[in-house]
Amino acid sequence: MATSFLLLLLLNVLVLSSLPFSSSSSSATLSSLSKGSSLSVENPTNVLISSNNLFSSGFYPIGENAYGFAIWFTKPSSNGNHTLVWLANRDQPINGRLSKLSLLKNGNLILTDADQSILWATDTASVSSVQLLLLDNGNLILSTSDNVLLWQSFDSPTNTLLPQQPLTRRTQLVSSRSRTNYSSGLYKLFFDDDNVLRLVFDGPETSSIYWPDAWLSAENDGRSRYNDTRIAEYDLLGHFLSSDKLEFRAADYGAGPQRRLVLDFDGNLRLYSLKEETGDWVVSWQAKSKACRIHGACGLNGMCRYSAGFGRECSCLPGFRIRDPTDWSRGCEPEFNLSCNQSEENFTF
Ligand SMILES: *[C@@H]1O[C@H](CO)[C@@H](O)[C@H](O)[C@H]1NC(C)=O
Ligand SMILES: *[C@@H]1O[C@H](CO)[C@@H](O)[C@H](O)[C@H]1NC(C)=O
Ligand SMILES: *[C@@H]1O[C@H](CO)[C@@H](O)[C@H](O)[C@H]1NC(C)=O
Ligand SMILES: *[C@@H]1O[C@H](CO)[C@@H](O)[C@H](O)[C@H]1NC(C)=O
Ligand SMILES: *[C@@H]1O[C@H](CO)[C@@H](O)[C@H](O)[C@H]1NC(C)=O
Repeated sequence: MATSFLLLLLLNVLVLSSLPFSSSSSSATLSSLSKGSSLSVENPTNVLISSNNLFSSGFYPIGENAYGFAIWFTKPSSNGNHTLVWLANRDQPINGRLSKLSLLKNGNLILTDADQSILWATDTASVSSVQLLLLDNGNLILSTSDNVLLWQSFDSPTNTLLPQQPLTRRTQLVSSRSRTNYSSGLYKLFFDDDNVLRLVFDGPETSSIYWPDAWLSAENDGRSRYNDTRIAEYDLLGHFLSSDKLEFRAADYGAGPQRRLVLDFDGNLRLYSLKEETGDWVVSWQAKSKACRIHGACGLNGMCRYSAGFGRECSCLPGFRIRDPTDWSRGCEPEFNLSCNQSEENFTF
């Protein structure tokens, strides 16, 4: 097994290095990973590709010398970046050197940092032969040769739900911190104790539900509290159905475009469809049409107004300036100097 894997790897390397134009993005290298083998952060061709070539899984740069083990759409979008759909270690990025994803002989899949510390693991075990495989629907699975499913990425979503990936009582979506920071943000999509699918702003000081609208009872928003199945999913046509009776269709309903349902960093839940001609992701449904009604939208001392694009624009109250231009959720700070000698971090509003 191990030798055939090595042979495969070797063959790939030979084939790739003999191609004159092999530089065309991260070329297809591996279809699966078996026991005793690993993917290295230092080898950009150590990437698993789904058989339809739609999805890739491997190490992805998410900051300065900070990598995540991720799944992304193989084809870059129009801005040249890849669109991530899953991250194993969003809050604990690993070093760009020596880090590895290893499928151990005991059946456990582990992610190790440069210092060999384990930052993430599937905590699985099996005596049979085990394979890590990226399926055509973007689900990364660990299964035995007799098809026992040990683990799947669909069970631990980050901020994205793909078609046919159920959201359940055990899973939730958590937004990214900002457009460029993939760490866990302040917004969550989850099934509440009353069986209703909700969006919550979970800030450092306050926590509040903003969808369905707090001033409407769930029933008035067409939801039902009586089905405790707690499952939500959308199909390949773009039809979404939840056990609380939330139901919608993509604006471009029908077979064809790739889709992804994302809890964006700004707290809105959006269904995107890929326009193949341009490589742009266009919004084909969104939870909140009034983006300024999303709690915490512009952070402390921030003001929200409606605009094109993401649907809102933030600015600071007079006398305040933005704390972090890449992350509006951090709000605004006073422009004037504080008379007392106190660092900004210690000053609480
Ligand atoms: C593309 O990714 C790079 C590196 O992460 C980032 O600096 C840049 O802002 C991204 N471009 C867009 C348009 O998001
Ligand atoms: C991303 O956001 C987290 C949470 O606010 C913060 O701790 C981290 O430093 C940020 N990362 C970068 C690269 O800005
Ligand atoms: C509860 O929701 C599930 C999943 O959407 C559905 O299959 C089932 O029929 C629902 N049950 C009732 C009583 O409506
Ligand atoms: C605040 O203090 C800093 C350093 O003491 C100074 O450089 C800055 O000009 C002051 N800003 C204002 C608005 O007074
Ligand atoms: C603030 O206080 C610290 C220690 O009390 C002192 O070292 C520092 O110089 C002070 N800064 C200013 C701007 O007064």
